[in-house]
Amino acid sequence: MSVESLPQLGIDVGGTSIKGAIVDLSAGHLAGGIHTEPTPPTATPSDVVAAIGRIAAAADWIGPVGVALPGVIDGSSLRHAPNLSSAWEVDGALACLRAPEGANAVLINDADAAGLAELTYGDAGLDRDGLTIVLTFGTGIGSALLHNGDLIANSELGGLVGSNGRFEEIASGRAISSEELTPMEWARRAQPFFDELEAMLNPSRWVVGGGLSENFERFASRLRLSKPISAAHLGVHAGVVGAAVAASRAGRDSEGSAQR
Ligand code: BGC
Repeated sequence: MSVESLPQLGIDVGGTSIKGAIVDLSAGHLAGGIHTEPTPPTATPSDVVAAIGRIAAAADWIGPVGVALPGVIDGSSLRHAPNLSSAWEVDGALACLRAPEGANAVLINDADAAGLAELTYGDAGLDRDGLTIVLTFGTGIGSALLHNGDLIANSELGGLVGSNGRFEEIASGRAISSEELTPMEWARRAQPFFDELEAMLNPSRWVVGGGLSENFERFASRLRLSKPISAAHLGVHAGVVGAAVAASRAGRDSEGSAQR
């Protein structure tokens, strides 16, 4: 997939921290240091926009930014974002992020951003046949579906409910750290999640991102899967890189329509 070669600021808003970096889009690498702000305890739109502004200033960045958000971008509001304030669900809540005089942001779901990064720079981009399921295990569980080389956005598979509750509550990265789960304990909880998805969607491969990608071997080796599984090529930075790709593609699309 071709992308612009100019640098672009990408920001990943998580339930615990907000990370941003300038991304070298020709290589899919961070072009500078990563800037991190704790997610404000209120996690309201205005407080998150202020934190994004501080990250842009620290990166010395002026211009549109790509922002990955932990929820479904539904027109002018954000839904299914249990780790942010409910104020995001109000109609018009996303306006402060998109305003040119504010963050001037291009928005994408955080797991979709990780999927877009894998599609653009990882092995998933080479696999044009079938379905790749990208799962990010962090504060929640995010998902991205990559089908025949295209991203199918807003899949929200972490919301699936098993016999012990929502998988995103019992098997996320946060559950691992707060309940000090061993890899085997985590796998006992996560296995039915993978089994359900395998039965429903018949993927040809799995990619794991988020915090779990740092301990990928220890955890993933405990799962019993019939299809290959690998760690996200871009590790914990996949969301930042994918947000930058989304911004670059949106800029290119709007230039294209201005020229037509
Ligand atoms: C949200 C998803 C998000 C995931 C990971 C879930 O709570 O509903 O949209 O991708 O967390 O942040």
